[in-house]
Amino acid sequence: MNIEEQILSLRQEIERHNHNYYVKNAPEISDFEFDIKLKQLQEMEKIYPQFFDKNSPTQRVGSDINRGFRQIEHQYPMLSLANTYSEGEVTDFYNRVLKSLNTDFEIVCELKYDGTSISLIYENGVLQHAITRGDGVKGDDVTDNVKTIRSIPLKLQGNFPAKFEIRGEILMPWAVFDALNEEREKEGEPLFANPRNAASGTLKLQNSAEMATRKLDAFLYYILGENLPYNTHYQNLTEAKNWGFKISDAIKVCKNLNEIFDFINYWDIERKNLPVATDGIVLKVNDLTQQKMLGLTAKSPRWAIAYKFQAEKALTRLNSVSYQVGRTGVVTPVANLEPVLLSGTTVKRASLHNADFIEGLDLHIGDMVFVEKGGEIIPKITAVDLSSRCHSREGGNLLQENQARNDSSLSDCENEKVKFIETCPECGATLVRNNDEAGFYCPNENHCPPQIKGKIEHFVSRKAMNIDGLGEETIALLFENQLIKNIADIYDLKVSDLSPLERLGEKSANNIVLSIENSKQNPFQKTLFALGIRFVGETVAKRIASKISSIDLLQKATVEELIQIEDIGERIANSIVDFFQKAENLELVERLKNAGLNFVAETSNIVKSNKLEDKNIVISGTFSQHSRDEYKQIIEQHGGKNVSSVSSKTDFILAGENMGPEKLKKAEKLGVKLVSEAEFLEMVD
Ligand code: IVH
Repeated sequence: MNIEEQILSLRQEIERHNHNYYVKNAPEISDFEFDIKLKQLQEMEKIYPQFFDKNSPTQRVGSDINRGFRQIEHQYPMLSLANTYSEGEVTDFYNRVLKSLNTDFEIVCELKYDGTSISLIYENGVLQHAITRGDGVKGDDVTDNVKTIRSIPLKLQGNFPAKFEIRGEILMPWAVFDALNEEREKEGEPLFANPRNAASGTLKLQNSAEMATRKLDAFLYYILGENLPYNTHYQNLTEAKNWGFKISDAIKVCKNLNEIFDFINYWDIERKNLPVATDGIVLKVNDLTQQKMLGLTAKSPRWAIAYKFQAEKALTRLNSVSYQVGRTGVVTPVANLEPVLLSGTTVKRASLHNADFIEGLDLHIGDMVFVEKGGEIIPKITAVDLSSRCHSREGGNLLQENQARNDSSLSDCENEKVKFIETCPECGATLVRNNDEAGFYCPNENHCPPQIKGKIEHFVSRKAMNIDGLGEETIALLFENQLIKNIADIYDLKVSDLSPLERLGEKSANNIVLSIENSKQNPFQKTLFALGIRFVGETVAKRIASKISSIDLLQKATVEELIQIEDIGERIANSIVDFFQKAENLELVERLKNAGLNFVAETSNIVKSNKLEDKNIVISGTFSQHSRDEYKQIIEQHGGKNVSSVSSKTDFILAGENMGPEKLKKAEKLGVKLVSEAEFLEMVD
């Protein structure tokens, strides 16, 4: 085998293992062996860039390039399904179809997966585009992100139509969702309410390398195209399995209503054992000709409906409301409930979201409330059972009635209305509410204990200063012993301060101090993120550090200047300006500077010119002056965009030695200019 054949064969082998692992759930080799093969391929592709292929399994790890999403029009609009909630409504649907068709028909029952829908376009067996639903007419081109999902094939096998579209649901498995939220909690980032939000949030990440770490899955359930192999939905889906798609086995062709109800009732219970979230059953007419006869309405097809499972509900008593103060000072009301069993777990607490939510429910202490657990992890209160509130009943001597029944939940008629607190439960400061926000927050950011501790936890967290050994408990201990009152105090800590503390000892104390020292090497973007300025998350900090090269310049920046930066709107800009207006914050920054933290950006991140602005550039071949990665960076520094394949939109190819023959052919065909290494360096000075 020559090199090219070896690379191709390795790619095929790795794709087969991916398919075994992610689609069939039946791996043939260990993860370790797999990693070795992947590394081997990566190495070979690095040495022989002329055999680069954007659909190689190595490309699934994602690129680091940040970009906005291009919008693409759907060839067939992405409709939704009419929802039904009862057997009666399912029967109505069945009878409507029967009346319209006036002949025999079959209904395919499938699970309704609760994720985010995606449309995949394949041409000649290669994934061309992955598009989100968007507004149904056009959606975001999320191809690069979708390529990181291992259960979606990049290249198909078998006998597939030359061009078709397949739709499905992108899902975050429960286990991945739980782990992600656990991580986010540690990092002080807001939690995702359910796997659906987590999946769609992940899909829209501007960074496909980050996206690749989030292990999404996908089930496909609908094929569209001119030349499909069969005339039934079921046969086409079954055939798509042979092309490499992950198609659910929870699918059945039903010949009558009884079979449909059996399927619904079976999966209403069994779905709880699935690794991903489902929220109902989808019923589809099997025959494609019959589907066409039934047609579409503006919003949904007449040949399909969704039956939604009932969310499990329980009725229980609201005992009290408590208030939690988070790292950023946001105050969250929490309902303390009489413990009640719901979907197999005992529920004692439920989120009440914010003051408006409480007001909307007209909540009183002692109310009997309905709690529901939908796709969410935290149960929510959906309604108050007004009939069990004594003053709401008209006529009758209710009090006597209640006492006679000796029903404790109804005995108290003087229940007080829940009124959102006005002062912080932790520090007593008067709470404030911004006009555009639903929540109240405690403004005493530098003196309110949970906010101080939260700020320190955020400061030392992995994505910020990455200081080892300072967990939540140790920070609480240091705070209680008045060794740290703010983030700058961390840099005054000595081994002799730490080692006498309970559970620490000399060795851990040494390690902590060493890790604190090392943190001074972190790049500016991390230091900036670590400061915990409201609304300045990791991405925003990165964006700022790429445009504003030091904290001194940032301190002087105006709102007008800040909103010029991509991703930064007025809310963030105001928050930054406010931060630097407080003398206390300036003092903190000054102390951190003196401690030796990095408050100046490395020049490599900085935009140097706009000479290549809006230019789509493909790099191909090998170079003598700089590495490929360096050229990628240079392109970005001058405002250009790195793209991986040659198309009519390519402005030019930065062509090194041994340029890939495919790229060369395509460039010639499309008349795309080739720029040599020397010419390029001259262009950018
Ligand atoms: S078929 C025109 N099948 O539910 C019908 N949809 O409200 C196309 N969904 O947008 C959809 N599981 O995101 C279909 N087995 C399944 C599904 C499913 C989940 C989602 C999908 C769709 C929404 C409809």
